[in-house]
Amino acid sequence: MQKPDAEKMSSRELGLVLAQQLLDVEDLHYGLWDPDLELSLANIPLAQQRYSTLLLELLGRLLAGITRPRILDVGCGTGHMLQQMLEHGYAVDAVNPSAHLNEQVRKRLARINATSTRLYESDFESLPLDELRHRYDLLLFSESFQYIPLPEFFANSSSLLKPGGCIVICDFFKTAAHCDGQPGDRSFSGGHILSEFYRLVGESAFRIEQDIDLTKRVSPNIALLDEWLTGRLVPAAGLIDVYLQGAYPKMSRLVKWLLRRRLARVRYKYLSGNRSQAVFEKYKSYRLIVLRPDSVR
Ligand SMILES: C[S@@+](CC[C@H](N)C(=O)[O-])C[C@H]1O[C@@H](n2cnc3c(N)ncnc32)[C@H](O)[C@@H]1O
Repeated sequence: MQKPDAEKMSSRELGLVLAQQLLDVEDLHYGLWDPDLELSLANIPLAQQRYSTLLLELLGRLLAGITRPRILDVGCGTGHMLQQMLEHGYAVDAVNPSAHLNEQVRKRLARINATSTRLYESDFESLPLDELRHRYDLLLFSESFQYIPLPEFFANSSSLLKPGGCIVICDFFKTAAHCDGQPGDRSFSGGHILSEFYRLVGESAFRIEQDIDLTKRVSPNIALLDEWLTGRLVPAAGLIDVYLQGAYPKMSRLVKWLLRRRLARVRYKYLSGNRSQAVFEKYKSYRLIVLRPDSVR
């Protein structure tokens, strides 16, 4: 029987869920690597927590003076940050389209008895705006911004925010080098074009209140994951391939032929040596941005 659309897993979602399970982490963001933190797989949760702490401190400053502020966590992943925001005393709702991640979020909410949190199991673009009009003091896009089409982002955010509320975006964007055709171009997909985002903010009802470049604190993660991929995952996959070729030669050749385009893409993206820290720093800009409604308009 075919699965309903909501239960089908996209390749992006598969990547997120696999990374979470293989690395055994609770967060789906990169993390912040500073010189005092040794770059190792074991330290990924610490680097991720440094990132969450940075966001929590920022939320504390942005929401100071508001009684029981209400936040919408857009693309809440496994709900780990959602839980931490609840523990800080914020009222938090979440929107997340991934059925597999939402199962984890629902279990987490039940475990911590978060009965007043509403989880919207859809994408941001499909939120019931009439029901949620001017409901939130803050919209948080923690590494989920790249998935939201920009027109819907501006239109829906204006409806969802209370007057004077703000938006926090922490994610990577495409730099001016995007599409330069050089080796490495397109080896990292995702992210809005930064200059285009700035242009659209200029035309929108929002202004940029804060904009910090975190690229160099995040990019060591790329080096770490690349080492893990080429040093561990690829040799393991090669071993399985050798076994399958021996045990099921015809089937194995057929499957490879059927998947040849996808395999070529995977080889280019992950195995051509272009998925490096330097390439990431050239083509991506990882930014922490705060937007506020532009009251002058
Ligand atoms: C990289 S994960 C980040 C998860 C979490 N915010 C964190 O910082 O660990 C991206 C999240 O965005 C969600 N997402 C993808 N497309 C979305 C959309 N159109 N609207 C809302 N969330 C979306 C994914 O399901 C996933 O939970």
